[in-house]
Amino acid sequence: MIAYLADSRTFFLQGPRSSYVLAITRHGHLQHLHWGARVQPGALDGIAPLIDRAFSPNPLAAGHGYSLDTLGQECPTGGLTDFRSPAVLVEHPDGTQALELVYESHAIAAGKPKLAGLPATYVEAAGEADTLSIVLADRASGVRVELSYTQFRDHDAVSRSLRIVNAGDAPRCVLRALSASLDLPPGERSLMTLNGAWARERHVDLTPLRPGTQGVGSRRGTSSHQHNPFIAVVDAGTTEEHGEARGLALAYSGCFLAQAEVDQFAEARVQIGLDAPAFRWRLAPGAAFQAPEALLVWSGDGLGGMSRTFHRLLRTRMARGRYRDAQRPILINNWEATYFNFDTEKLVAIAAKAKEIGVEMMVLDDGWFGARKDDKAGLGDWVCNEAKLPGGLKALADRIEGLGMRFGLWFEPEMVNPDSDLYRAHPDWCLHIPGRDRSTGRSQLVLDLARPEVADHVYRSITAVLRSARISYVKWDMNRHLTEVASPAFPAGEVHHRYVLALYAMLERITAEFPDVLFESCSGGGGRFDAGLLHYMPQVWTSDNSDAICRLDIQHGTSMAYPLSSMGAHVSACPNHQVHRTTPMLTRGHVAFTGAFGFELDLNKLSPEDLATARAVVAEYNRVRDLLAGGDLYRLRAPADRRAASWMVVAPDRSRALVTWVSIVAEANAPFPVLRLRGLDPSARYRVDGEVVGGDVLMSIGLRPRIGHDFTSRTWHLERV
Ligand code: GLA
Repeated sequence: MIAYLADSRTFFLQGPRSSYVLAITRHGHLQHLHWGARVQPGALDGIAPLIDRAFSPNPLAAGHGYSLDTLGQECPTGGLTDFRSPAVLVEHPDGTQALELVYESHAIAAGKPKLAGLPATYVEAAGEADTLSIVLADRASGVRVELSYTQFRDHDAVSRSLRIVNAGDAPRCVLRALSASLDLPPGERSLMTLNGAWARERHVDLTPLRPGTQGVGSRRGTSSHQHNPFIAVVDAGTTEEHGEARGLALAYSGCFLAQAEVDQFAEARVQIGLDAPAFRWRLAPGAAFQAPEALLVWSGDGLGGMSRTFHRLLRTRMARGRYRDAQRPILINNWEATYFNFDTEKLVAIAAKAKEIGVEMMVLDDGWFGARKDDKAGLGDWVCNEAKLPGGLKALADRIEGLGMRFGLWFEPEMVNPDSDLYRAHPDWCLHIPGRDRSTGRSQLVLDLARPEVADHVYRSITAVLRSARISYVKWDMNRHLTEVASPAFPAGEVHHRYVLALYAMLERITAEFPDVLFESCSGGGGRFDAGLLHYMPQVWTSDNSDAICRLDIQHGTSMAYPLSSMGAHVSACPNHQVHRTTPMLTRGHVAFTGAFGFELDLNKLSPEDLATARAVVAEYNRVRDLLAGGDLYRLRAPADRRAASWMVVAPDRSRALVTWVSIVAEANAPFPVLRLRGLDPSARYRVDGEVVGGDVLMSIGLRPRIGHDFTSRTWHLERV
């Protein structure tokens, strides 16, 4: 998968249909040459000619005609002859930041080593991937940067990360360590980002690249609702199924930067990595800093091809544990059914009704612990409130198990309310700056997880609850962003990243100890939906917005990078609690079962018709749940024009498919749109709606759905005959 041509000192990372090519220049710098369609290894001299450019200075040893300012690079630094955005910045004892990284050595090995303390893709057999490590060094300071590239055999995907080592004899600080950086040649391209807010996450934005810097990031301590650690650089003319798209995702759950800088010669420097406010990581002599992993996916099959590669990689080689492959339960969550107002009988009644229609697990959400009667108190006190739940969680879990269902539980382990026993006992355990007020969000403060005594306490209280009853699922919530990010344990510039590392360490410990528990992450809905957390928790509550129509945009945008199996999606009550819209039960079901499926309402309150539809939705889901969990997604029609949205999921062997169509706002006497299907076997025949139709016909002539009444939906089940 990785070839090195010694004569030209060029590395070829070869995917099934893609190549990623880099070379060592005659002066030892690491040059980016190509990321795109597969090319045969061979000399590429002269492809990227270096000519002298006015106002681009020359390193002394290189002289006239060679400047880092015009060289396409793999690991640009600052302070010397490149004025564009650096990937690595290190501050030396004298306050300067110059770093001239030149090639020292490289190694190519089968497989993929682990990243210490960080989430990363993995292989199950050495033959699945090759890893190239390149060591670059700055002779003047002794700083070394070890770049790591893994090429996957079966995916047009490269993972990248870097490690900065202070091999000098004075202490230094890392100011920036972006995991991936590369310079694309001029071309007409757009930048795709996923943006929004609470209850409106990951809406797609596609904006043409223009001179200067464009990008997104988070300074909130989490990957955030507002922007996602994923960007794509999309060639002009690229559609869902045709053309080139290059996606970059960061496996990291904290502050980040993802951007493209179009320079004076129209080259686009594309970068993604950790980037926290005032980031400053001390490196004593001999110490190293490991940056998170970035995933780079190239597609020649449009946006759809890019997404499908991300989906397969994240689903099968980022997610871990039993539930990576095991069937996920259909659950019912009581949050929108009861909010804080519940007792055992109410919960059992909700569960019992859900059991009748085929729901498999009951999840008890917020409000079961401490003095939690609303969102102002109790976080941190992970002890069951027996006034609400006599006999504790064990008694409730036993009742639920007695119904033939499994039981799941909500936690928000990273938080504390000032009105809690935990805070009263340890008022200094939250992130805070001595001498300043502590800002609250949803009346809560963030625990200083990087302090071992705090992390140990959280670990002990959560695991004690998990051992106290038969708990098969955990919803791990996180409902505010980080402010006053300081800790007595670490210098301020490290605390953001230390927090994320401590969270990963805790999740590693707890998920290893409870391998049979399904973990779902959540941050006020989809505020921490990133590739990193999928390593610990294979599904995420996609959004606190459960309206089926709003979910079309949210799930569409999320699907650009993340697999359907990772998107928690529930059928909720109407009028919807977030936008007050009323939509048919069938539509709510079709939209929700496209993701990790569940309900979030009291089925006892449904009309007999709606209850019957809910039952039918569960039955329909049971026909296709394996297909939805492991199939390939084709987005047929984006919700953007507000008329309709459509998508299909095709089994990997193309023997089955499910097509879903949702009408949004109806138009009188509208044309019948053409819905050309994708991903089928053109030579096979499929049974659909009682007829047998060729795959070629379905893909070239297509179906002719009607735009139905507002918010209605329908599905087609295809089976190869
Ligand atoms: C967050 C979650 C919701 C629910 C509430 C409980 O908002 O996203 O699903 O769990 O917290 O307080």
